[in-house]
Amino acid sequence: MLNDMSGKINTAIIVAAGSGSRLASDTPKQFLKLKDVEILAYSVQAFLEHPQIDAVIVVTSADYLDHVIRHYPDCKVVPGGDTRQDSVFNGLEACSASTDNVLIHDAARPLIPSWVIDSCLSSLETCDGVAPAITPADSMVQIEDSGFRNLNRDSLRIVQTPQCFHLNILKAAHASGKVDTDEMGLVKQSNPQALLGFIEGAPETMKVTRPLDLEIIKNYLDAAEK
Ligand code: CTP
Ligand code: MG
Repeated sequence: MLNDMSGKINTAIIVAAGSGSRLASDTPKQFLKLKDVEILAYSVQAFLEHPQIDAVIVVTSADYLDHVIRHYPDCKVVPGGDTRQDSVFNGLEACSASTDNVLIHDAARPLIPSWVIDSCLSSLETCDGVAPAITPADSMVQIEDSGFRNLNRDSLRIVQTPQCFHLNILKAAHASGKVDTDEMGLVKQSNPQALLGFIEGAPETMKVTRPLDLEIIKNYLDAAEK
């Protein structure tokens, strides 16, 4: 791993402390295997191999701490919390004091092309925070009491990870006491002045949530081998 050309220190935090209740598997989804490789290992590898990433922190549940420490020797490993936001907070606390930028990634998104990381890091040179996002392919509606309303899908985005920030911006958002489901929402709520943006993401960075998602991601891996 080499420092960023801009001289910035970039730390990836991979949150892997969830239980995967919607997948309904005994093993949390990040520890299931896809083509004989643990789902967590794909994103760990993508960040470890990226030349601008200096450190990788994995946040995991107490039950899996020993497993992750043993199998991911190149990562710092810390315990997670009850919510995703709590787990991210623990990861932030474990960042080195020299960290400039943090990239928060869901372990449940195994496929993260290096160009997405490149693109996020170059946006951070001019923004306080950035995340990959894709435009929905389907028609989108909003359900209302009186029926539904069609939304213009060209103005909508499906937000993915890694969600990337200057460390001080994300730490301040966590200290604000606000709560949100992701970091872009949390920073926007707590700091309306923050300069936030989106870059075009990759469809394969989808999150494993339901059983069919595992098959779709396996197809992406098969296609990449051809
Ligand atoms: N996560 C975490 N700590 C938590 C909850 C979630 O680190 N307390 C992580 C998950 O491991 C996952 C990512 O946040 O990599 C995205 O969360 P999600 O897809 O909701 O995963 P789970 O919470 O595990 O799944 P579910 O909501 O179906 O229970
Ligand atoms: Mg969850």
